[in-house]
Amino acid sequence: MSKTAQTSTIDPQSYRGAPIVRRRSKVHGWGVFTQAPITKNTRIVAYSGEKITAKESLKRESRYLDGGAIWCFKLNSRWVIDGHVGGNISRFINHSCTPNCYTQIVDGVIWVRAAKNIPAGAELTYNYYTDGDGHIQCRCRPDCTSML
Ligand SMILES: C[S@@+](CC[C@H](N)C(=O)[O-])C[C@H]1O[C@@H](n2cnc3c(N)ncnc32)[C@H](O)[C@@H]1O
Ligand SMILES: [Zn+2]
Repeated sequence: MSKTAQTSTIDPQSYRGAPIVRRRSKVHGWGVFTQAPITKNTRIVAYSGEKITAKESLKRESRYLDGGAIWCFKLNSRWVIDGHVGGNISRFINHSCTPNCYTQIVDGVIWVRAAKNIPAGAELTYNYYTDGDGHIQCRCRPDCTSML
């Protein structure tokens, strides 16, 4: 059986991933932190929320950006997951230009996975790879000049 076939059998709704918790972040607002060490490539959590069309997402994204936030995660050219509606703890994971997680889409599920061995108490981050206009100054580190 291939690796892809194995991962596709996991139900993201009932998946009990790695131990993580929401806490205040130095990067921005709320962030998500590990409560125990997490091994490289562990499937930590699925980015969940309402599945909407790309067209609907354009409307919502501009509304969300007016409030300074990005919640919509592109699944493919037709579909987007809106973490602001029905989302789980994953919606509080902040962006970093040097992240410790990566995302992987398998059979329509956006998995957040560990890009390295992550110690307990670390903030989880992944690269949002936003393709918008870049309205938000990235605060992943003091000297970062990127825009989200
Ligand atoms: C999905 S939310 C993440 C949770 C957010 N920290 C909160 O408290 O609601 C995404 C928003 O968090 C903020 N954010 C995430 N990563 C950031 C970063 N590296 N620098 C600045 N703001 C960031 C931006 O406002 C972004 O639109
Ligand atoms: Zn940055």
